[in-house]
Amino acid sequence: MSTKTLLITGGAGFIGSHTVRLFVNKYPNYRIVNIDNLTYAGNLENLKDVESKENYKFIKGDIKDTNLLEKLFSEYKFEGIIHLAAESHVDRSISGPMEFITTNIIGTVALLNVAKKHWEGEYSGKLFYHISTDEVYGSLDDKGKFTETTPYNPRSPYSASKASSDHLVRAYHYTYGLPIIISNCSNNHGPNQFPEKLIPLAINNIKNNKPIPVYGKGENIRDWLYVYDHADAIDLIYHKGRIGETYNVGGDNEWKNIDLIRLLCRIMDKKLNRNPGDSEKLITFVKDRAGHDKRYAIDFSKLKKELGWGPSVDFKTGLEKTVDWYLSNSSWLTSVCSGEYQKYYDRQYLKR
Ligand code: NAD
Ligand code: TYD
Repeated sequence: MSTKTLLITGGAGFIGSHTVRLFVNKYPNYRIVNIDNLTYAGNLENLKDVESKENYKFIKGDIKDTNLLEKLFSEYKFEGIIHLAAESHVDRSISGPMEFITTNIIGTVALLNVAKKHWEGEYSGKLFYHISTDEVYGSLDDKGKFTETTPYNPRSPYSASKASSDHLVRAYHYTYGLPIIISNCSNNHGPNQFPEKLIPLAINNIKNNKPIPVYGKGENIRDWLYVYDHADAIDLIYHKGRIGETYNVGGDNEWKNIDLIRLLCRIMDKKLNRNPGDSEKLITFVKDRAGHDKRYAIDFSKLKKELGWGPSVDFKTGLEKTVDWYLSNSSWLTSVCSGEYQKYYDRQYLKR
């Protein structure tokens, strides 16, 4: 087994923590350095089970901090980067876009510059792997799916900032020869997702008998994937993906928001020993999100054909596991739903 030192950015967040855990446990010969500046979405609790492993190191720091990145590259001589650090919530990008521009665009360029400087002339064996979203492709009507060649058409400040970072990553490949791969994934669900996103927010509200806010008529469609399957895809793409390529990752699992919430309500009624239909009474239609993308759907046939990847868990099983995790980790939920979260929640939903 070869030895490598990898930098994972945003490893204290939702998908990042599952990626860090997978790499630390599966590759004891790798040294995994996780840089995360612990925004509201970053939480070291997510990595408690790996924090004392010898091949793991956490650095609290900002990806925009070039001096720190320089120091880390000199010290650790990274051979690979898996870049997940980002501002990731569409609603926050609507009320405050600037943070998305600085972290998602400028932060990514800061990383690209330092990687280029330290790797130039010795690109062999190096990889800058950028994790992105299907939202860069825009919004679909009823038919069709996003492929890797679908033209970019981002429509929220979040997706525009991610699209911009994708373009810059590709530009560093074409202009400077930097070895890069990009993957664009659909909506994830699973343990440790901050309860501002639809599924954990709904679970938390159902549990606490609070209204479940459904935007518009609940007819928007998302393609859902269990986060462990995304982490597996990241592992596979990092090791077997072709340099310069883009891979779409998805669940082949489209749900209208309202149907998904109803399914979640049925699962929660059972788990909480409530009468069938009790949780559905909490569904509350609220003002729609500005510029709300209608439908996302991912064609991941390239990843399937080239690397043999596909989702391993069927959606209902995965969703039950997600619910079980939140119900048996109430202290995690309570601790992330602190004063700051409450202020965000009131700003976001009381006006609707
Ligand atoms: P998240 O918001 O849960 O976590 C982001 C992490 O990045 C946090 O730990 C945060 O502290 C850290 N971070 C933010 N700004 C930083 C900075 N300037 N310096 C260092 N660290 C910083 O996000 P997530 O849902 O885990 O998403 C991870 C990545 O995957 C993002 O790039 C996102 O665009 C992408 N993605 C997410 C989804 C999804 O469904 N959640 C789907 C496809 C792609
Ligand atoms: P979200 O989890 O924010 O992910 P994204 O916007 O990146 O797809 O939202 C998923 C879907 O659920 C999206 O169509 C918006 C909708 N939604 C609600 O209806 N109510 C909510 O409270 C939230 C957070 C989202």
